[in-house]
Amino acid sequence: MAQLQNKHILLGITGGIAAYKAPDLVRRLREQGAEVRVVMTDSAKAFVTPLSLQAVSGFTVSDDLLDPTAEAAMGHIELARWADQIIIAPATANTIARIAHGFADDLLSTLVLASKAPVAIAPAMNQQMWAATAVQTNIETLLSRGVQMIGPGSGEQACGDVGYGRMSDPTEIVQALIDAPATKRQWQGKTFVITAGPTREAIDPVRYISNHSSGKMGYALAEAAARAGADVILVSGPTQLPTPNGVKRIDVATTEQMLNAVQQQLGHCDVFIGCAAVSDYRVAEVSSQKIKKEQNDQTPQLKLVQNPDILQHVASSKTPPFTVGFAAETENLKANALSKLERKQLQMIVANDVSQQGVGFNSDNNNALILSKDSEQSLPTMSKHDMAVAIIDAIAKRYFDNTAN
Ligand code: PMT
Repeated sequence: MAQLQNKHILLGITGGIAAYKAPDLVRRLREQGAEVRVVMTDSAKAFVTPLSLQAVSGFTVSDDLLDPTAEAAMGHIELARWADQIIIAPATANTIARIAHGFADDLLSTLVLASKAPVAIAPAMNQQMWAATAVQTNIETLLSRGVQMIGPGSGEQACGDVGYGRMSDPTEIVQALIDAPATKRQWQGKTFVITAGPTREAIDPVRYISNHSSGKMGYALAEAAARAGADVILVSGPTQLPTPNGVKRIDVATTEQMLNAVQQQLGHCDVFIGCAAVSDYRVAEVSSQKIKKEQNDQTPQLKLVQNPDILQHVASSKTPPFTVGFAAETENLKANALSKLERKQLQMIVANDVSQQGVGFNSDNNNALILSKDSEQSLPTMSKHDMAVAIIDAIAKRYFDNTAN
């Protein structure tokens, strides 16, 4: 069976001797059902011609960021959006350094920045260069951002040296892409409902009670689940974030509205993730007019009533989905999270310490403990995007084991 059926693969070829293997790589990707478009750097053209790549891919090769004719055919932003996967093979030390440092001075490096597609690289260089600290540091940077590393292999090199630095064979590269979690799209046919962001509880027409949630964690989860093939419904409190590709978003403001929206989606929900920072309380009587300072001799007192617990509603519904909660804690992280796991009858809880600087609310990074009844996984500080992928993977391990789907 073709395992990359209809997958849009953007192949970046850079200037190394291993570029001669690129036409074979294109052929093998197409054998697996992928549609391949090729982008070449200038130096790649010294090793293999654009015409050969055009012949094997069936599409004109793109090579210039500033070419108006090429932009009229498929502009670089369009190409970045088109890609489901970027693979750079061979990836030279120079290209690795440039993408590690966010350069955007040629078409390939710009596409890597402009695309949300997962990036894989198949490094190819002299063994001494591969071992150089600068190269290894750049590789670590890319790995920490979730870039997939394919190879390099060890053996005799074109220059006569022996060691690591040989580009993996096209068959190995294709297999590594097939095996990558992003490619597996293991959630195809399953629906995730994910809550994100804060809720807002009105005090009067101009004031409300809320919290510092930006929605970043929940949106990253929605993006990661969609990339893994799921249909994703994101029930979002007020945020400034764009909707991730392929995700259906329902905007709400209050806890009641969030609960209603979630309940309407439960009929066809396989996995529920409660990442929203939901207000536990709302104001008992919302003033219909702005509360005036001068009308009050004394400081006004707000009477609060408890809000419904959305997560608990989902977990105790008639046919509950696989239910994952978050625990935002400032002390006793594990103990408090475990108590929520049990009290709310969850399959899994992601516990984050929101008292730490640089993680948790409104930051780009997070660290967490993923807890279930019989397992514990610690996630060190990483980007919320990487954490979202790790959480979706952890859910997959339990979900597919339990349901044998
Ligand atoms: O949005 P960001 O800026 O990226 O920040 C991410 C985050 C810190 C908000 C996120 O990682 C997180 O911890 N979300 C949960 C916040 C929270 O409300 O935690 P809690 O411990 O108070 O609630 C426990 C769980 O019950 C949560 O899954 C929450 O969604 C749910 N809950 C809480 C109250 C309520 N009335 N209904 C609920 O469903």
